[in-house]
Amino acid sequence: MPTDPVLVVHGGAWAIPDDMVEAHLKGVRNAAAAAWQTMQRGGSALDAVEEAVVVMEDDETFDAGRGSFLNRDGRVQLDALIMDGATLRAGGVGCVERIANPVRAARKILSDSPHVYFVGEGAERFAAEHGVQLCRNEDLVIPREIERLREFQARTATSDDDLFAPAISHDTVGALALDRNGNIAAATSTGGTLNKAPGRLGDSSLIGCGCYADNQSAAASTTGWGEPIMKLVLAKWAADRVLAGNLPQWAAAEAINYLKDRVNGHGGMIVLDSKGRFGIAHNTPRMAWALRTAAEERWAIELT
Ligand code: GLY
Repeated sequence: MPTDPVLVVHGGAWAIPDDMVEAHLKGVRNAAAAAWQTMQRGGSALDAVEEAVVVMEDDETFDAGRGSFLNRDGRVQLDALIMDGATLRAGGVGCVERIANPVRAARKILSDSPHVYFVGEGAERFAAEHGVQLCRNEDLVIPREIERLREFQARTATSDDDLFAPAISHDTVGALALDRNGNIAAATSTGGTLNKAPGRLGDSSLIGCGCYADNQSAAASTTGWGEPIMKLVLAKWAADRVLAGNLPQWAAAEAINYLKDRVNGHGGMIVLDSKGRFGIAHNTPRMAWALRTAAEERWAIELT
């Protein structure tokens, strides 16, 4: 029997300022609408999460694709991961500098490669050989981010706590989908953290950290300060709680509590199981998310 599709997307968890609320809501709604249409036209959960993330990579509001945070050298370095809950196939790219939509390259790795993960120039070469167009790094850099980096570097960061404070943007984007065949999928994409060291890889493109998907447990996508999330393999941690019989909402909330209690991390998470039950949690002042089902369309910037 066909399953009713469900789609959940997020566009970052941090202290999103009032004047950026509208852009974030519009961005996550656009992403959800595009992905929903993909599934309405018969696309799979995997197709849907790829499309949702492409829309947010193309939207300069978010720290993904063009308009991402700049690293210490003033360059954009992008990470992305996509995972199929039906087969556990996954594709990830890390530290790519010439791919505007790294999730497209990740999808090509998932579908066309026996490998799971490519980084740097090798990832770019693989992407180009599989039909993903390369761009110049300058094409991904926008004036807002040049100014943000300049201001940040002029202000001496006094500690790592300052660097990763919840007020600093973590606009990593992600999407989860359940399709008519009962399959779930997840994707996450990011430009990483502001002023990061060149070559630094965050949580977003690592399996079980930035996202995870297994039909037998759940799909999850995270956003926030990457290093603590990596240490806890947080997306897999949440999926395992669903496998143990807990609801996705409980798993998401407990994962964020664990993140805070165990490693003083902050961020947000969305979780979706193959029954269409979902969860959304964050410990940052705000998180942008959108939900689409056959019965409803919902979006918010914070949980009430
Ligand atoms: N969560 C994004 C990063 O830390 O790279």
